[in-house]
Amino acid sequence: MPAYAVTTTAQRYEAIVERGAIGRLPECIPPKSGLLFVVTTDDLWALHGPRLAALLDGRAWHRITFPGGEERKRLASVEAMADRMLELGADRTSVVITFGGGIVTDLGGFLAAIFMRGIPVIQIPTTLLAQVDAAVGGKTGANLVGGKNLIGAFHQPLVVLTDPDVLGTLSEREYRAGLFEVIKCGIIRSEALFRLMKDEAPRVLAREPGAVEHMIAESVRIKCEVVSADEREGGLRKILNYGHTIGHAFEAETKYQRFLHGEAVALGMKGAAHLARLAGKCTPAVCEEILDVVNRYGPLPALNGIPVDNLLARLAKDKKTIQGSVHFVLATGIGATEVVAGLPSELVREAIASSFA
Ligand code: GLY
Repeated sequence: MPAYAVTTTAQRYEAIVERGAIGRLPECIPPKSGLLFVVTTDDLWALHGPRLAALLDGRAWHRITFPGGEERKRLASVEAMADRMLELGADRTSVVITFGGGIVTDLGGFLAAIFMRGIPVIQIPTTLLAQVDAAVGGKTGANLVGGKNLIGAFHQPLVVLTDPDVLGTLSEREYRAGLFEVIKCGIIRSEALFRLMKDEAPRVLAREPGAVEHMIAESVRIKCEVVSADEREGGLRKILNYGHTIGHAFEAETKYQRFLHGEAVALGMKGAAHLARLAGKCTPAVCEEILDVVNRYGPLPALNGIPVDNLLARLAKDKKTIQGSVHFVLATGIGATEVVAGLPSELVREAIASSFA
């Protein structure tokens, strides 16, 4: 069983990656837990709910349904869920179990982080994107009108149960969107993973079980390693934001309606690759290689009607913008990164415009 540990100053927990990992839920619930609250969406519940319900048989638990959608990943949704928990009798011994994609794991984690100033959460990610990124590492939060994940908290889970079997019902588009976060892991930290995504694209796209399990396990391993080294993003963890600075601008500019998060990250990685080339931080060959691998996992939604100037304005509101200076994670090679600030806006404009190609 591949299990990777996240070790922070306050806590140590495992991200378990294995077929059937969901079946481990009962053994992961602390013995003295009170009411359990499963945060999920109706769609996911219709597909996989009976299995989870069977695992909770004989325990006191409730389902809290989140309507889904990036536009509803808002503080108001967290408040509504907290009110519902209270009505149902939640107290400080309650445990949240998230069961869904990245929006559910982020929002459910945030709910757990602030309900009665913090109760435990078990993360069960059911999309590729949530499995390889969102559910591991304790970042939780919600969106503001002005930008993505601009409110939130670090709240590490008790355990992350990553079950590749649930991906069988994932749509082709959602699956591809998750693959871009895997590519990101390769670019920032593992040339071997990047090569796998390049050379084995047909196996990956066909969801060949061996390839899928391997890429998930590698991505989770990398994420656990990075978070353990830098839980609060004081340094190394910034590399996980590769492609996200420009990506978040695409998402916010289109009001979270046009792109799945992973698709926006793909655009952001293309922009970051061009920016690294233009800033002299990587060779044209490295830039081309990144663009080539990202393009293998397209198509991406059309970019019509998105003014580059609006995207530039959005960058100023990103969390990585400090005192007006946008911080970009750039790949200097495959598996190597540098955080760069103070780049001329003309260069950034040219990089984003090139990513439209
Ligand atoms: N998704 C980026 C991070 O967890 O730091």
